[in-house]
Formats: sequence, C-alpha cells, structure tokens
Amino acid sequence: MNYVLLIGAGSDIARPLAFLYAKAGYGIYLASRNYDRLVRDASDITIRYGVDAKAFVFDVTETSKHKQFYESLPNRPHGVVCLAGILGDQKKAEREFSEVENVIAANYSGLVSIIHIIAADLEQRQEGFIVGVSSVAGEKGRKSNYIYASAKAGFTTFLSGLRNRLFTSHVQVLTVHPGFIRTKMIDGRETPGIITSSPEEVARDIFTGQQSGKDFIYSKWFWRFIMLAFKMIPEPVIKKMDMK
Ligand SMILES: NC(=O)c1ccc[n+]([C@@H]2O[C@H](COP(=O)([O-])OP(=O)(O)OC[C@H]3O[C@@H](n4cnc5c(N)ncnc54)[C@H](OP(=O)(O)O)[C@@H]3O)[C@@H](O)[C@H]2O)c1
Repeated sequence: MNYVLLIGAGSDIARPLAFLYAKAGYGIYLASRNYDRLVRDASDITIRYGVDAKAFVFDVTETSKHKQFYESLPNRPHGVVCLAGILGDQKKAEREFSEVENVIAANYSGLVSIIHIIAADLEQRQEGFIVGVSSVAGEKGRKSNYIYASAKAGFTTFLSGLRNRLFTSHVQVLTVHPGFIRTKMIDGRETPGIITSSPEEVARDIFTGQQSGKDFIYSKWFWRFIMLAFKMIPEPVIKKMDMK
C-alpha cells in the first residue's frame, strides 16, 4: 500500500483531502499538533474506506525533531502534502520580531526542514510526490499581511527550485496557489463569496492536480488571471489605492 503523509493535518482541507486519497487506496498518515482530533479523523478514515490511517504529533517549528519523526513512521510515504501554515498577527509583527519569526517558521523554514528530509528519501527511491500549499498572497505584498505573504513567496520559490532538483529523480513537486478558502484561518473575515472556495473544492483541486502530474495549480483556477491582472497594476497606482 502507498501512503500519503499530510503535514498540518489539522487544516480544514486535510479531512476531505484524506478522504480522496483513502478512496483511491492510499494509506493515510495525519501529522499535526492537535493529536486527539487526528486520532478521531484517522479512525473515521479507516471505517469509511478500509485503509490504514494513523495520527502523529508533529510541530513544523520543532525542526530538531523532524528527522526522528520521519524515521519513526511505520512505512516510508509515497507522497507528502504540506498544509501547515499560520496567518500570524501583522500588526504585532511590525512591533515584535518574535512574531515575524513565528510566521516564517510555520510557513517557510520549518516546512523547508521537513521537506528536505523527505525529498532526500524520495530522491534516493526515485519516486513519489511533494505537494506544498502556498498562497496567491505570496505573489504581491499588501500592507495587511506582508509578513505572511513574504513567507509564502519564499515557500513558492523554494518549491520551484526543488521541482527542478528532483525532476531527474522522477519526484513530482506540486505548488498549490489558493485564493480565499472558507477555513478557520480566516474565520470572521469577510471575503467575496464568488471567489472564495470551500475546503472540499480545494482538496479536490489538490488531488486532481497531484494525480495528473501538474507542477503548479491555482485554486480556484481563475485566481491565476486575477493575480495576473493584479500584478500588472503599477506600484504608484497600488500605493494610492490604499488596499488592505
Ligand atoms: N484560508 C485561506 O484563505 C488560505 C488562502 C491561501 C492559502 N492558505 C493556506 O492553506 C493552508 C491550509 O490552511 P487552512 O486555510 O486550511 O487553515 P487552517 O484550517 O487554520 O489550517 C492550517 C493548519 O496548519 C497547522 N499548523 C499551524 N502551525 C503548525 C505547526 N507549527 N506545526 C504543525 N501544524 C501547524 C494547524 O494545525 P494544528 O493547529 O492542528 O497543528 C492548522 O490546522 C495553509 O498553508 C494556508 O496558509 C489558506
């Protein structure tokens, strides 16, 4: 049985995504900080789809434990999907550098640490996939979230370099660029309904994109064109628009 490891499996996208992989016959490893929730999800997956599913405590920011975590998995996974991320507090980050460090650790450096460990294994096995969930936010800085956005920009660039490194080893690296998603990360914030995805829609896009061997996807697809248009607005105009 091939296994898929979901890092940041507390994400609202993780459950529908795990269902899709389980339905396709994959064993599921759920890794995140909220162990009790993951144990319930793992048991639900096994009951519904009859595949092996297990929960693991994992913190992206505890990089010294990453190698031991990966080596302790009962089976080496065929693929990994990295969903972990935090929005952080932009205003706090402008005052306190520790908040900048938190955001960079959860969205960039901690993910680089665990992905490099997994990449070395897949590279040697000459198979598998790595999916990183980045964000359209990483394509243009805005005053309301530029610390989070710059960490995502770094993550996107990391994934594109890794994709080129692993190409000759037959390891797929997929970058996911979602727009707004109705999850607990943006709870209470108003987002335009028509361009906001459900976690189920994003899960479906990730699964389909990974299974069809894509390098990158936007979710929903039209975000590619929204961002293209947004990036064409000159900086002097952007400054005067007073965007949030
Ligand atoms: N929601 C949006 O509008 C949106 C838009 C674009 C991109 N994204 C990206 O989509 C991904 C999934 O986010 P989401 O929207 O599903 O939000 P979410 O439900 O809050 O999921 C994010 C998950 O990341 C996990 N996480 C955070 N810090 C972690 C750490 N140090 N170690 C391990 N796990 C950690 C959390 O799980 P535990 O607390 O259980 O550990 C949390 O459940 C994120 O990378 C996010 O940046 C979201």
